[in-house]
Amino acid sequence: MGKVKLLDKSFKLYISAEEIEKNVNILARQINNELKGEEVCFLGVLNGAFMFASDLLRQINLNCRTTFLKLASYSGTSSTGKVKQLIGINEDIKDSVVVVVEDIVDTGSTLEYLVKLLKEYGPKDIKIATMFMKPEAYVGEISIDYIGMKIQNEFVVGYGLDYEGYGRNLKDLYILESQN
Ligand code: IMP
Repeated sequence: MGKVKLLDKSFKLYISAEEIEKNVNILARQINNELKGEEVCFLGVLNGAFMFASDLLRQINLNCRTTFLKLASYSGTSSTGKVKQLIGINEDIKDSVVVVVEDIVDTGSTLEYLVKLLKEYGPKDIKIATMFMKPEAYVGEISIDYIGMKIQNEFVVGYGLDYEGYGRNLKDLYILESQN
């Protein structure tokens, strides 16, 4: 499927499911190697990370915990720069290595907020794993430990990412087609 229409916008195929899978597997191997022997808690950021977390965690062979947290930041196709926590952290993450599992890092403001929040719980360490990253949009200070794929600074949907709630179910990644 080369094109999809979601509400008023058209998107074209950008990165295939096969390409995504290859990169998820590389990340999983890296995490398995680097965090062997650690007390690890994976923390998926809902809604967007549900698909990446599901694929990644199936390839993780660590004795670890997995939990999710829900934040909200986006309305439409541009970041509002504001985030709010909707479902909080219930696990005891003190002394654990927390691996934040994100769908995409754009400006980095979500991450900034989240890392600040996590530090209050006293984890041993905080690692960041994201499937996609837009290096040109990133203005954060936090270093991203595990990056699946770097992408263009354009709006994308699929593989968990949405436009107004639509498109999360697409297994490939699609990019917004220019309007002209
Ligand atoms: P940031 O706070 O600007 O880094 O934005 C991060 C959040 O915005 C992600 O977790 C996504 O939910 C959302 N987001 C950023 N870029 C896109 C995109 O291209 N498509 C859909 N959602 C996006």
